[in-house]
Amino acid sequence: MKSKFSFCNKIIFLLGFYFLLLTTATNFLRAQPTNSDSTNSVSEAPAVIPVLQIKADQVVAEVSPTLYGLMTEDINFALEGGLYAELIRNRTFKANPTNAVYWSAVGNGAISVDASTPLNDALNVSLKLDASLASKDSPAGFMNAGFWGIPVHPNSKYCVSFYAKSVGRFSGALTVKLQSVDGKTVYSSAEISGLSGEWKKFEFSLFTKDVAPSKDNLFVITADAPGTIWFQQVSLFPPTYKNRPNGTRPDLMELMAGMHPSFLRFPGGDFLEGHQLDHRFDWKKTIGDISQRPGHMNDAWGYWTTDGFGLLEFLEWCEDLNMQPVLALYAGYSKNPKVIQPGADLQPYVQDALDEIEYVTGDASTKWGAQRIQDGHPTPFTLSYVEIGNEDFFDKSGSYNGRFAQFYDAIKAKYPQLQIISTVGNDHPESLRVHSRTPDLVDEHFYKTEEQMEAQSHLYDNRPRTGPKVFVGEWATRVGSPTPNMAGALGDAAWMCCMERNSDLVLLSSYAPLFVNVSDLAKGGSMQWRSDLLGYDALTSYGSPSYYAQAMFSSNHGDHVLVTDSLNVPTYTTRSGRQVPSLFFDATRDSRSGTIFLKIVNRLASPQSVHVKITGANNVDSSAEAVVMSASSPDDTNSIQDPTKIVPATSNVDGLGADFTRAFPPYSITILKSKTN
Ligand code: AHR
Repeated sequence: MKSKFSFCNKIIFLLGFYFLLLTTATNFLRAQPTNSDSTNSVSEAPAVIPVLQIKADQVVAEVSPTLYGLMTEDINFALEGGLYAELIRNRTFKANPTNAVYWSAVGNGAISVDASTPLNDALNVSLKLDASLASKDSPAGFMNAGFWGIPVHPNSKYCVSFYAKSVGRFSGALTVKLQSVDGKTVYSSAEISGLSGEWKKFEFSLFTKDVAPSKDNLFVITADAPGTIWFQQVSLFPPTYKNRPNGTRPDLMELMAGMHPSFLRFPGGDFLEGHQLDHRFDWKKTIGDISQRPGHMNDAWGYWTTDGFGLLEFLEWCEDLNMQPVLALYAGYSKNPKVIQPGADLQPYVQDALDEIEYVTGDASTKWGAQRIQDGHPTPFTLSYVEIGNEDFFDKSGSYNGRFAQFYDAIKAKYPQLQIISTVGNDHPESLRVHSRTPDLVDEHFYKTEEQMEAQSHLYDNRPRTGPKVFVGEWATRVGSPTPNMAGALGDAAWMCCMERNSDLVLLSSYAPLFVNVSDLAKGGSMQWRSDLLGYDALTSYGSPSYYAQAMFSSNHGDHVLVTDSLNVPTYTTRSGRQVPSLFFDATRDSRSGTIFLKIVNRLASPQSVHVKITGANNVDSSAEAVVMSASSPDDTNSIQDPTKIVPATSNVDGLGADFTRAFPPYSITILKSKTN
């Protein structure tokens, strides 16, 4: 008995040894900064210099051309009160059924939400203005303060539109003004007449002069004669990106363009599903003339959406930034919990998804392609990826396996070229994953602290390449609020090294959330989720250090991942007392130009010297372009007040070549672009 037991032990030992050998060999090939030899825990520069070896003639993987993308949904006033350039809050008076929230009466006016005078079935209420006491000397009306202010920019054109009707013919005039909150400055105004007993759309422009930019302003409409007037869809648009009607905010589009994103995952996120079925993103109600869109309660994040930014607007966003859409399809699960079981009950939702794909990709001969053309976009969009639902690991009923299969079969039958993504990745238990079909990709989400991100910076190095590819559809180092600080950017950079090094497996990745309106950070205000990539108020915007880290990574990589290896990679003691690596890296090479992109992240509070050896490349230039972002503290950050405190700087550095030692600054992300033959 005793000897049999020790025989078993020997087998286990041998198996363990074999496994160790295998892991070490794989690690070597997959080029991770290993921890195994990192005995020194440091908060100062390590005594032993770490060595990075780059084997420029050994390619371990192709860099996925779609590795860096964007993910979006309406959270943190990302669309309404964010990217969607509409400046009027609650323009359709539907945010509250009984109260004209975000509107106030002016002068002797009295306002109310009136369900008896709808514009149409979609906009089935209106704002009733009782201006019975109005006169030229004492106008009566109403006003809106926008989404925490109405921005006024110099020399700009503002497009105003609204529907209005009166009791019989209204003999007076309406005055429409863009003015400061104290009323002392009127930036622009217009007088409108011609109201009658029928609904009529009024459209005109307001122009500002050479004024200082400001946001504490109001949009005001007043009547100068007694009467009762109803209004619907009161809208004010500033200049938009590429001058698209019903378009987007130029400053935010320009920030995103700086990231060179390859795709956009939309429309969520929880926003896709809603907490209740009726509050999902019901795409057919988000297309066509905006006056025919009913809007819906965004119950996932607690505010009304007009759906003025609907399916076609998401697609035009893709077009404007040269991104491909990654279309998330509602898959019969809302978090309430509401599960539509696979089978006949689910079929209408499957059909809805097929129709949606047709709207995106179809030509004039198809019903929904023709609808898109009628909506103003003749050219079909190119679509390669669709995702079935969102985070269906929350559905503990086990229905996802069957729901996925039903969508998968219907989509593959009609669109065999589409890659179909499951929302349950290998980061969730086997029992929740899809087994009924083999997804083309699985979506894995990571919201982590800095040390957790750094600790998992080898996560994919050893994952078998036999299963589905990975879409990291939501990830963020959640440090800093409302937007991440330098610690967040360092965690992100460590994680991006991992994803880039493994981009034969990780085909797509997108940080989330993308946007936050920082105007009101109190509970119930403009932020529902902290640590968001881009911050803004009504007037200006900024990128977080995490934004700049991502822009650095996505703008600077080759098409080949090179084999790398490391020695003496030190660890540091995190705030919670944990030991995690303090140095992260990966190397890619552009196969056409030969340029090697070496990314090095130093998490230490002190400069860290690193010995870099490049083999397998001819004539590595001794000088290179270096893009460096560093901070004096991990808590350093950007904000509306100080938008560019932490930004990358580009310079030429010498003393490099195929074998060099260089000190990397404290809390830094560096990209060295070495030319080779
Ligand atoms: O990004 C915020 C939320 O996090 C998303 O809506 C959801 O998919 C995830 O849980």
